[in-house]
Amino acid sequence: MKKFIEHKFKEIFDRNDGAAYFSPGRVNLIGEYTDFNGGYVFPCGLEFGTYGMIALRDDMIVNVYSEHFSKEIYTFNLLSYRKDKNASWCDYIKGVIEGMEEKGVVFTRGFDIYLFGNMPAGAGLSSSASLEMLIAYMLNDQLGFKLEKTELALIGQYSENVYVGLKSGIMDQFSVIHAKKDHALLLDTKTLKFDQLPFKLTEYQLIIVNTNKSRGLTESKYNERFNECMTALDVLKPLYQINHLCDLNTKELKNIEKLLAPNVFKRVKHVVSEQERVMLSAKALKENDMKSFAKYMDQSHESLKNDFEVTGKALDVLVDSSRKAGAIGARMTGAGFGGCIVALVGKDQVNQYMDKTEAMYEEVMGYKPTFYQVSAEEGTHRI
Ligand code: GLA
Repeated sequence: MKKFIEHKFKEIFDRNDGAAYFSPGRVNLIGEYTDFNGGYVFPCGLEFGTYGMIALRDDMIVNVYSEHFSKEIYTFNLLSYRKDKNASWCDYIKGVIEGMEEKGVVFTRGFDIYLFGNMPAGAGLSSSASLEMLIAYMLNDQLGFKLEKTELALIGQYSENVYVGLKSGIMDQFSVIHAKKDHALLLDTKTLKFDQLPFKLTEYQLIIVNTNKSRGLTESKYNERFNECMTALDVLKPLYQINHLCDLNTKELKNIEKLLAPNVFKRVKHVVSEQERVMLSAKALKENDMKSFAKYMDQSHESLKNDFEVTGKALDVLVDSSRKAGAIGARMTGAGFGGCIVALVGKDQVNQYMDKTEAMYEEVMGYKPTFYQVSAEEGTHRI
């Protein structure tokens, strides 16, 4: 891959210098919609993601060529850039630059960038965080800004929240940049402290299955869910002396129910129970008890379906088919509304599982899902 992008970079920008980097996508094992509620998440890095090559310039011009999005050079000036609805994919990049400037970084040189992504777009595996962290990491490295990985993750979140307008949490950027091979990242989004737990399965295979129903989060109900959680927090904060919904526990739910509108209560119920499931699944993983881990995955999906209401037909049919086809646990992953599920399947049953799931899913939906057998991979790095 490195040879390929070096070749393309040379062909497009007609220069022989440049440094190559890779930034993965991520899959969340469990802990959905806890990240903007001060809770835990449990993601890991993936083998596919975004490759990039960068070389500095002597002026303030930025040239970006993306194999995926544009297939032509997109140019802007560091002294006067703004959002561009004709090249919205570049907003993620401009958002990172603005986020760095907000941190006090001063850009003195422009750059040429070549991008090549090999992950399914709109699949909920964080192609946007993969791109943001690639750009942040490359610029930090090439321009010698000396920002820590966590600061880069926050800059990526700034790009998403302020520049692109999605009220997303910190999970995606944090996991993309901090991911470690054969480990899953147990992140406390309240303190940004984290543990890397060994995640190298021997008896089971982790499989991501794409519904092939894509979704764009900015048009989805993501921000609506965010607002519902904040509405609940406004009511509960003074009564329970909490700063985040995840400071509550499931025993308190009974009393909380009468304080909130029914739909808002359901969101709280999901968030609080999901937080407990993350802790329980981390414990199960440490004890190598994958059957319990899988049970919490199943419960997580039910909660996202019935209480948080972010699944939809394609995800539910795929989870259901997966379970019937032999997965010991399956759940939607990421923001939902389409995208992917993640399943745990016995290593000796993988082929049978994929055949059966595909047949059942296709019969109901009329099109096939796509399977990816994955393992936990390294975060953003130079190649
Ligand atoms: C998206 C967001 C994350 C997180 C998940 C749901 O991936 O970008 O911050 O909220 O949805 O868990």
